[in-house]
Order: sequence, then C-alpha cells, then structure tokens
Amino acid sequence: MDIYYSQLFRSDLLNENIVEAMKAERHDRVKYQRMMEMTTDPVIIKQIKFAYDDEIKHYVMFQQIYYQLTGKKIDIPIPTNIEKHNTLMEAVQSSIEGESEAVDLYREIYALMTDKQMRDKLFEIITDEQEHFGRFIYLYSMIK
Ligand SMILES: [Fe+2]
Ligand SMILES: [Fe+2]
Repeated sequence: MDIYYSQLFRSDLLNENIVEAMKAERHDRVKYQRMMEMTTDPVIIKQIKFAYDDEIKHYVMFQQIYYQLTGKKIDIPIPTNIEKHNTLMEAVQSSIEGESEAVDLYREIYALMTDKQMRDKLFEIITDEQEHFGRFIYLYSMIK
C-alpha cells in the first residue's frame, strides 16, 4: 500500500512540475523577446536569442513528455502580463536568477523520472539552461 501511494504521489508531483516547467518556458520566451527589444546592440541580441530559441524547443519537449505520461495534450497560453524591467541590466540580473531556478526545478523533474529516454531529454534541457545561465553572466559582465 505504501509503495502504491508513494508512486502515485511521485507521478502527480512529476506531472505538476512539468506544467510548472511549461509555464516557465512560456514566460522566459516572452521575457527574452522584450529584452531583445530593449537594445539595438547585435552582440547582446545574439546572446539573448540563443535562449529565446531554446525556450520554445523546451516547451514542446515538455509538452511531448506530458503527453507520454498522461495521454493528454496541454497548451499554456502565451503570458501577456509578465514583470517589467526598467533597464536591460535589471532584466539580465533577473534572468540569471531565473535560469538558475529553472535548473533546480528541472533537476527535481529529472529525479522523479524513471524512463531513460525521458531522462535523456531532461538532461538536454538542463544542459541548455546551464548554457543560458552562462550567457547571461557573460552579458552581465559585458553591460555593467
Ligand atoms: Fe528552457
Ligand atoms: Fe533558459
């Protein structure tokens, strides 16, 4: 009985966390779009665009994983009321934190997974977020 309940809890938690991940991916893509509009510097835009392009790929990957786990296809609407930043610097700082939080959440998701192929997908996403983290640190040192 205990094992049954803990497995049930585990899969519920996994599904909930995947929905959170999809929301975060949607949010970040809108945020990075806005950040690219805050500058005309092609070097800065190029760095942000790496993350911008990856977040939609991640969104679709999580959507596929959720479908594999539940048989349900869900879609998160594109957020319109995301937080505003007065300067690009401020947005870059908050993105450093955001990417670091994404890595924490996705490590938790990884730990809840048992399927090898799913874990491989998560590993790819985690590696991408770590790369974004690095790119925002680079931007931080470049802008300040
Ligand atoms: Fe992402
Ligand atoms: Fe990211």
